[in-house]
Amino acid sequence: MQSLSLLLFLLVSTTAGYLLPNPPGKYNVTLTTGSLIDYSRDDPYAASPTPRALMLSVFQPTTCDSTVPVPIMPDEVAKYQGPFLQQTFNISLDLSPLFLEARLPVCPTRPNKPTCSFPSDANRILLFSPGYSIPRLYYNALASSIASQGFTVITIDHPFDANIILYPTTNHTIHTNTSIISSPTWDLHPRAADASFLLTQLANATAMAHLLPHRGPRPFPTDRVAMLGHSAGGAAAIVAASRDLRIRGAVNWDGTVFGSPAPGLGWEEPVAVMKKPVLFLSHQDFLDPSWEATWGRLRGPKAVVWVRNTTHYTFSDVPVLLEAAGQLGEGFGELLGTLEPARVVALLTAYTTEWMDGVFRGVVGGLFKGEEPERFPEAVTLVKGNF
Ligand SMILES: *[C@@H]1O[C@H](CO)[C@@H](O)[C@H](O)[C@H]1NC(C)=O
Ligand SMILES: *[C@@H]1O[C@H](CO)[C@@H](O)[C@H](O)[C@H]1NC(C)=O
Ligand SMILES: *[C@@H]1O[C@H](CO)[C@@H](O)[C@H](O)[C@H]1NC(C)=O
Ligand SMILES: *[C@@H]1O[C@H](CO)[C@@H](O)[C@H](O)[C@H]1NC(C)=O
Ligand SMILES: *[C@@H]1O[C@H](CO)[C@@H](O)[C@H](O)[C@H]1NC(C)=O
Ligand SMILES: *[C@@H]1O[C@H](CO)[C@@H](O)[C@H](O)[C@H]1NC(C)=O
Repeated sequence: MQSLSLLLFLLVSTTAGYLLPNPPGKYNVTLTTGSLIDYSRDDPYAASPTPRALMLSVFQPTTCDSTVPVPIMPDEVAKYQGPFLQQTFNISLDLSPLFLEARLPVCPTRPNKPTCSFPSDANRILLFSPGYSIPRLYYNALASSIASQGFTVITIDHPFDANIILYPTTNHTIHTNTSIISSPTWDLHPRAADASFLLTQLANATAMAHLLPHRGPRPFPTDRVAMLGHSAGGAAAIVAASRDLRIRGAVNWDGTVFGSPAPGLGWEEPVAVMKKPVLFLSHQDFLDPSWEATWGRLRGPKAVVWVRNTTHYTFSDVPVLLEAAGQLGEGFGELLGTLEPARVVALLTAYTTEWMDGVFRGVVGGLFKGEEPERFPEAVTLVKGNF
């Protein structure tokens, strides 16, 4: 753990913050955060009846002459992460400075003016659901990279699941306490319902004018929407796609597809039989038994791809944050894998965007047909079907 203690010292001494790389795609990206409240649905986990309130980050492809560095998360949220990760992973290192000091390069937006112009690709919408207990803000660099390929990416905080959610307009926070986090229900349906609510709001001009003032009061078309996520979020993407006609396909980054623990409610089988395309990306040498159980319910194009030299926690911004901060020591290999962070971003972006492109065009091709085998030797297609 010696290299990990050194890390803390170096980070607290760099007060100016550090900049993440520009997203690699053909577009620059805007970032807008805000909340949407579902007054038709009480939060199933709140102690007293409370409408379910989602915090969102919206990444949109655009072009700009210069970018501005923005913090990847509010200070209060960043300060919460160090102790949370220490407890979760039993590490002495406090990673809060890594989150406090990271800056993402984005195009500037002016709140009350529709100043940015967006390409038609911005109408291809990907919803992103995070890993269990992890805020959406752990996936900013990955979401920005995917958006830069020509997608609007919306990351979602699920209340009483993300360890802390800050609602900036009211300064209200939801802390999901340890006793909740240590006994998850693994019920993916509230997450799927969040996605369906969000899609309804995307089609609502008034709601979009509030959420994205720089875009102008227009609804989004919702004919090209798909969903992805990490861990429980990846599983939720499949569950949501199997239940909402508007979600046309899914990508699951290393997520176990849990069933519901509550019998008698009619949804013990979380994934309904469907013909929509589903991609599973797995950490090295692991075949999740729940994927084998789900496989037969998927009647559309489907594939399982292994990514060498990765772990479950490779699938987040943490490797790229450590690299950008100049702090990626060998001590992290066991937790985060040894695949180079820039490769992690490039690979996850390429496999996700090529799959989603296929979802919307109705043809899965490219990487999944074995074309360009030299491009990602780290990825192994283990099994595929229906294309
Ligand atoms: C993105 O923004 C940078 C300025 O930071 C600019 O140099 C670059 O050309 C832009 N890239 C694209 C694809 O628009
Ligand atoms: C946490 O780590 C310490 C030292 O590395 C070890 O002694 C302890 O047993 C660990 N605790 C748990 C719960 O794994
Ligand atoms: C929220 O809290 C921050 C820091 O404590 C403060 O600067 C800000 O003005 C507050 N915002 C609102 C809307 O109360
Ligand atoms: C955690 O939150 C739940 C639900 O709000 C509450 O019942 C419980 O008392 C809390 N536990 C602690 C240790 O704060
Ligand atoms: C559209 O959004 C506005 C603002 O959130 C809300 O008041 C209105 O009820 C919504 N309309 C529909 C049809 O849901
Ligand atoms: C990467 O994984 C392969 C097995 O898939 C292994 O042979 C190799 O040693 C690993 N490389 C590193 C740097 O961990």
